[in-house]
Amino acid sequence: MSKSHNNNNLVVLAGNSNLQLFKEICAHLNVPEGKTLVTKFPEGETHVQIQQNIRGRDVFIVQSTCTPPNDHLMELLILIDAARRASASRITAVLPFFGYARQDRKDKPRVPITAKLVANLVTVSGADRVLAMDLHAGQIQGFFDIPVDHLYSINVLSGYFRKKKLKNLVVVTPDVGGLKMARAYAKVLGAPFAIVDKRRESDRKTQVMNIVGEVKGQNVLLVDDLISTGGSLVEAAQALKKEGALDVYAAVVHAVLADPAIERIKNSNLKELVVTNSIPIPKKRQISKIKVLSVASLLAEAIMRIHSNESVSSLFARVGVEA
Ligand code: R5P
Repeated sequence: MSKSHNNNNLVVLAGNSNLQLFKEICAHLNVPEGKTLVTKFPEGETHVQIQQNIRGRDVFIVQSTCTPPNDHLMELLILIDAARRASASRITAVLPFFGYARQDRKDKPRVPITAKLVANLVTVSGADRVLAMDLHAGQIQGFFDIPVDHLYSINVLSGYFRKKKLKNLVVVTPDVGGLKMARAYAKVLGAPFAIVDKRRESDRKTQVMNIVGEVKGQNVLLVDDLISTGGSLVEAAQALKKEGALDVYAAVVHAVLADPAIERIKNSNLKELVVTNSIPIPKKRQISKIKVLSVASLLAEAIMRIHSNESVSSLFARVGVEA
């Protein structure tokens, strides 16, 4: 972080979703950790209190709406409301992981578009801006009627694999929806890309239909925005091995890791799964096959640039993600 930045007026607060990431972000920004009390009343209602003066301050609230998503979402909304009523001059919701993002369209009759509802809730609570990272679909930015800065963790994840210097690498998306992401990784890593054509049979089960592209005799890097039950990645890894792939690695931004993901990964032929710390992984769910990389410096840099009214797009423009 450049020393020329002025962080006097900057306050960073957090709910309970990802305290480790919050601490790391504050350390990178060289600001004290903002003081909040986020608890529950005996009947289960969420209660927050901001325990410092934030009148006229530029406030950033760091909260991933990860498991348990409803509690973490409620904490976020109430913190925004508390900050507004405490006369913050500007409030930015920092969402390293934006849950409910997969419910972004009416893909069946009479279903809601919950991602839009959640975006409305964030806005109505009083947020002036949003800082998000690797949204499930770029179009979700448009669900918010306030400015959204959208970061990508591609430099962090691809940098790890660049250092590995894997020979004969092919980047693979485990479903056609991830084509743009795979293309970006392939470009950054100077590798070709291939597509796994999957069909989702239920919330927990997927089936691989076809593999489009050459993977035989190649090392594979599967890339995805999130891993939930692990079905998509593990099925893809199995199909790729069957097609003659060598080692299969995976780079995934958001480690949702709902059951039975850990068991599936443990028993899979994935060599290594690399994720970011946008969602914390509890100690008892950490396994040697999963490597966690921090996005704290990326988020801290973006926060400082927003605070100083500098360009944020230059943080990811270099890698050609939007190409
Ligand atoms: C799909 O559109 C997403 O990018 C992920 O591939 C999917 O949601 C992962 O879910 P699971 O791990 O349960 O297969």
